[in-house]
Amino acid sequence: MDETEWDEVADVFDEIILDVPRHDRGKKILQAVKHHGGDKKTAADLGCGIGRTIPMLAEHFGRVRATDISKRCLKRAERTHARYDNVEYFHADISRGLPFKPVDFVLCINVLLAASRARRQSMLDNICAAVKPGGHLLLVTPALESALYATHRLVQLHEAEGMKPAVAQRKAARDTTRLDMGVVVVDGTPTKHFLKEELADVMARRGMQVKDIRKIEYPWGYALAEAPAEMGPPLPWNWMAVARKAG
Ligand SMILES: C[S@@+](CC[C@H](N)C(=O)[O-])C[C@H]1O[C@@H](n2cnc3c(N)ncnc32)[C@H](O)[C@@H]1O
Repeated sequence: MDETEWDEVADVFDEIILDVPRHDRGKKILQAVKHHGGDKKTAADLGCGIGRTIPMLAEHFGRVRATDISKRCLKRAERTHARYDNVEYFHADISRGLPFKPVDFVLCINVLLAASRARRQSMLDNICAAVKPGGHLLLVTPALESALYATHRLVQLHEAEGMKPAVAQRKAARDTTRLDMGVVVVDGTPTKHFLKEELADVMARRGMQVKDIRKIEYPWGYALAEAPAEMGPPLPWNWMAVARKAG
């Protein structure tokens, strides 16, 4: 999605964009923020959207830089969190560069979504470059394993409704044009999804020491429009990676 499309989402953000920190039942993101925080430390929220993670960063770091490609999202974030005087807002496209110097802790939740490999590589280069040597990155991305698992559950749902196996599979089938590149079409938008090993690899190649990669689960309704309210675990998930910049 480009800047105009993200601007169009700004007013309906909470209705259509998964709120990862809210659904993070184990509060893994907040725990990592607390663990790496400090009054003298700086943090950045890359692709901050409407600012859902601004409070946790502002309350645990001395200074926070928040950036987004969408002016409208950024304005909402700034208005909503005006009470925090230690946050600066920057309108920027992180595939083109960073509007501030490296910080101690970078948070980047579901921003690395671009189907274009060239664009994604630049974004990832800049996300990693935003971390000071010895600092940390918390990166959340869509999980390819989760997308394939959701299809399995959808086939089962169709069979439970009485469809024959072949029909159940046909009705659950996705656009697989670029599935081998981890690109899954979500609500009409080709969206990059990562394998766990792939995520570890792309960070290690950028001088990041990967400390931990774990699931952050979210409700079925965000993965499958057809999901009944009582649809049980295992739930779909994003990958949350925490890595340290060497040095
Ligand atoms: C799925 S939303 C996630 C927002 C926020 N991190 C959250 O978890 O609520 C993705 C955000 O990334 C921003 N974004 C996408 N591409 C970007 C880029 N190249 N540079 C900066 N922000 C970008 C979008 O404008 C949008 O606000």
